[in-house]
Amino acid sequence: MSLSEHRLLIGICGGIAAYKMPQVVRGLQGHGAEVRAVCTAAATRFVAPATLETLTRHRVHQDLFAYDDDFPVLHVGLGAWATAVLVAPATAQTIARMAHGLADDLLTAVLLSTRAPVYVAPSMEEHMLDHPATRANLELLAARGCVLIQPAAGALASGASGRGRLPEPEELVQRLVADLAPRRDLTGVRLLVTAGPTIEDLDPVRYLANRSTGKMGYALATRARDRGADVHLVTGPVSLPAPAAVTVTRVRSALEMQQAVAGQWSTMDAAILAAAPCDYRPRELAAHKLHAGGMPPLELVPNPDIAAGLGREKGDRLLVIFALESESGLDRARDKRQRKNADLVVLNNLRDPGAGPETDTNVVTLIDRHDQVVPLPRMDKTQVADRILDWLAARFAGRPEVR
Ligand SMILES: Cc1cc2nc3c(=O)[nH]c(=O)nc-3n(C[C@H](O)[C@H](O)[C@H](O)COP(=O)(O)O)c2cc1C
Repeated sequence: MSLSEHRLLIGICGGIAAYKMPQVVRGLQGHGAEVRAVCTAAATRFVAPATLETLTRHRVHQDLFAYDDDFPVLHVGLGAWATAVLVAPATAQTIARMAHGLADDLLTAVLLSTRAPVYVAPSMEEHMLDHPATRANLELLAARGCVLIQPAAGALASGASGRGRLPEPEELVQRLVADLAPRRDLTGVRLLVTAGPTIEDLDPVRYLANRSTGKMGYALATRARDRGADVHLVTGPVSLPAPAAVTVTRVRSALEMQQAVAGQWSTMDAAILAAAPCDYRPRELAAHKLHAGGMPPLELVPNPDIAAGLGREKGDRLLVIFALESESGLDRARDKRQRKNADLVVLNNLRDPGAGPETDTNVVTLIDRHDQVVPLPRMDKTQVADRILDWLAARFAGRPEVR
């Protein structure tokens, strides 16, 4: 896959892993990308700008006020030039400055000015990475749309071992290729995606809900769109921005989600149900606020089973469902797939700290109709989405024509 349509700006910070970046530059060029680099002042202590200039054939600036023939206002010009920016190794210091919107050197000014997607690969000692300040800063960057590339575990520069290593150059290159190289293997596929929780009202101010954030479903909708699918996203209430060029239906309750989904199913080629609709709703919706003391016992009735409903009407459409089990996960997930007539079940791992509704990463196992079990390592939700979509694309590749 080629990056020949891409102009990549690499922002190198003053971390020990900066020595890996010339290899990253070469790897990206090997995929056809045009690459420029910007160094922080500290970065130049770890990697020589002359090396990067020789490889990129461009000046490597660190000074916000430097003159460059190509860009009269350097930070604005570089930000507009880039089709994607990779900050690697991203130091605790630069991450903090990005989180606070500072623009006191060339790299941070470019990062404020660019509209290109920004990839951030943190690299530091484990204690720096786990410090509440760094964690809060990284969460803020992720919430603003930066794509975090998780650090690897292993030997660290201090001699200790732990999390915080910059992934190897080839892994960084492959990650950007996977995300940025145009892949249109879902072109023409009409895909229904559900995301988020549902809210089951009890009275005008109280409700039942769950902790789903919608991150997994939104990642699936966004990546499927990027890969050419015609995506209809049915979403419960979440705080994520609607993905561009995706049809979005917003719902509140499981009943509303069921109606929206059932109404679309006959026009779709596949559905991925990543939402977490509530299994139950209160029997009665009180017209007025229930007051403490006068609160009746909470009576619940089951909501319709959305996945089973689609499974019954499936025909030759493809159905992917999710399972979240706290025990006997594999057996229960297999059973769930069979009962709901789904083609693939994605089993969420509840035990891993990097998995779950609120994290940006996930740890899942894919189980198909033939009982093939594929456990995936901890990955960003975008990467998990791509692996699920790889499975889907492979199924459609076997069909001559999508309806
Ligand atoms: C030998 C050495 C290695 C360092 N390695 C790292 C590192 O891997 N990650 C990090 O966040 N900071 C590291 N630092 C600290 C940064 O260099 C320092 O915070 C600097 O201000 C970062 O500036 P910058 O973010 O503008 O590049 C290291 C410092 C030294 C002296």
